[in-house]
Amino acid sequence: MMEINLTVNGERLTWAIRPDASLLACLRQNGFIEVKSGCAEGDCGACLVLLDGKPVNSCMVFAASAQGSSVTTVRGIGTQRSPHVIQESLAESGGVQCGFCTPGMVVAAFALLRDNPDPGESEIRRALDGCLCRCTGYEKIVDGIRLAAARIREIESAAGEQSDE
Ligand code: FES
Ligand code: FES
Repeated sequence: MMEINLTVNGERLTWAIRPDASLLACLRQNGFIEVKSGCAEGDCGACLVLLDGKPVNSCMVFAASAQGSSVTTVRGIGTQRSPHVIQESLAESGGVQCGFCTPGMVVAAFALLRDNPDPGESEIRRALDGCLCRCTGYEKIVDGIRLAAARIREIESAAGEQSDE
């Protein structure tokens, strides 16, 4: 066993881990079960989290390598009580059906819109490339992310106008 210190959703944590444990396994063992375990082989994107701001499949990362890092799970983006615009927009557009892929989709969409507030359809599809969905056929997810992007731009432009007054 070894000890690592890291931050998850803003909370500083110390974990005793096995040196070969994946970040996904450690997150789930420590209660972050919103991070889903699908293929555990890097193919489905269900386990996507932000590691120091970068989207990664947490099943493919050794927890040991997250020493000193900051991890954001979907719960750090928005919760049921306080959902992020991306989560609301995905739900409204019908992009959430069984919901298993949703945490990864939200993390991927969050990283995309943070870096590109007005993505075209091909950019959205490229950002979701590693996230598999068995239910929606992807159209409604793309619609939801487009809707979220428009809403975030609206919110930001209203905030910009207010700060100019
Ligand atoms: Fe990690 Fe599928 S569970 S990519
Ligand atoms: Fe079921 Fe995507 S909503 S896998």
